[in-house]
Amino acid sequence: MGQLEAYQGVATIEKVAALCRRRAFVFPSSDIYGGLGSAYDYGHYGVLLKQNVKAEWQRAMVQEREDVVLLDSAIILHPKVWEASGHLAGFSDPLVDCRTCKLRFRADKLDDARCGRKPSRHPGETPDCDLTEARQFNLMFETSIGPVRDEGSTAYLRPETAQGIFVNFKNVTSSMRVRPPFGIAQIGKSFRNEITPGNFLFRMREFEQMEMEFFVPPGEAPRWHRYWVEERRRWYVELGIRESHLRERVHESGELSHYSSATSDIEYLFPIGWSELEGIANRGDFDLSRHAAYSGTKLEWVGHDERYVPHVVEPAAGADRAALAFLVDAYDEDEAGGETRTVLRLHPRLAPVKVAVLPLVGKDAAMAEKARALYEDLRRVMQSEYDDSASIGKRYRRQDEIGTPWALTIDRQTLEDGTVTVRDRDTLAQERVPIDGARALLLDRLNAPWSPRG
Ligand code: GAP
Repeated sequence: MGQLEAYQGVATIEKVAALCRRRAFVFPSSDIYGGLGSAYDYGHYGVLLKQNVKAEWQRAMVQEREDVVLLDSAIILHPKVWEASGHLAGFSDPLVDCRTCKLRFRADKLDDARCGRKPSRHPGETPDCDLTEARQFNLMFETSIGPVRDEGSTAYLRPETAQGIFVNFKNVTSSMRVRPPFGIAQIGKSFRNEITPGNFLFRMREFEQMEMEFFVPPGEAPRWHRYWVEERRRWYVELGIRESHLRERVHESGELSHYSSATSDIEYLFPIGWSELEGIANRGDFDLSRHAAYSGTKLEWVGHDERYVPHVVEPAAGADRAALAFLVDAYDEDEAGGETRTVLRLHPRLAPVKVAVLPLVGKDAAMAEKARALYEDLRRVMQSEYDDSASIGKRYRRQDEIGTPWALTIDRQTLEDGTVTVRDRDTLAQERVPIDGARALLLDRLNAPWSPRG
């Protein structure tokens, strides 16, 4: 059995999407109107998971470094930004229509698409398929600024967060103590009118990016490019993605984006096959030079005895796509207490809820009182849940499904000797610890290194 077949045995996009819907991670957007295939809404646990993904990115990219600063730029930028960046002229995919089944396809991805007629084949493969010539379709969403809609009011929702960073290069270098090599990091929504969105959170029309532009002296770009490929790969592994599910794919010269002189994708073995998780590009001086030319503002680094246009290395990740990879990698089914259980083996720092506090007998007033006091203490420092309904087995199972790494159970013995059991989601081991030390113990474990299978 190949690696992909073996992997598909456990997690499929369908199973993960069903769990996400059932347990309030992700809902189809505009669900009561039949959904909008290209957009999703995050429920309670999904919001917490995605927030944790973004917080871990910011921790690694900014907090634990001295050479990267933050930015949060507007979504709608001056329309000239997209002229200068090349997006207006070149950010397009080739589109074909089928006159028979009326579906639209990306001309360069016909092998991944299914035609609208039965038996389903790739578009163009049946005698009935009647495809138009390919034409370029710009992926930017258009809108207009102000009450009068005319040519001069046209604006665009940003298709990448990167350009907001380039146009702030001067603001940042003149207001912060930075010098190359240094980076500007930004997390925010981007919008692309994708021809074929799909595969759940993998390709949407509205999504969140986590991008960092790293400005370096021109000769140093190749070295930093390699550095950031390794750093970003390490980040995914540290947060629990199996190394065997990650690989680097170097772009061939014919597929490079208009701004890039070298790009490596970090690919993840999604259940749909190896696909891009994050791209790391060497953008050279393309963006700063173009914005300087189009705006008439010099965008360069001026040191004591040097002056140059920095080159840019860009690690560009997607928050939703990363969340999907973490969910897929964590998804597991095994046996516990003689039953099949679904469990999300998420890294504790990514888990939406860190701890559940459970009185063994919910109706026992003394146990419930102790459990609530512990829960109220814990929730001040970490996302916690209190649950006193249903059998203890069912309550454990509920927490396993949302990936809660630890459950603290208050039982008769707690009332006698002040200890609680800590149940571990992955090993199912239970140990007794003093109730007073539970908070410090969990905080320690939350910050300890962790690997996927214990
Ligand atoms: N600034 C460079 C840039 O935007 P990209 O490879 O087009 O590069 C970077 O996008 C990352 O953004 C991708 O690796 C992916 O994780 C995420 N991404 C891009 N398009 C997406 C979409 N339609 N839906 C979800 N995530 C997307």
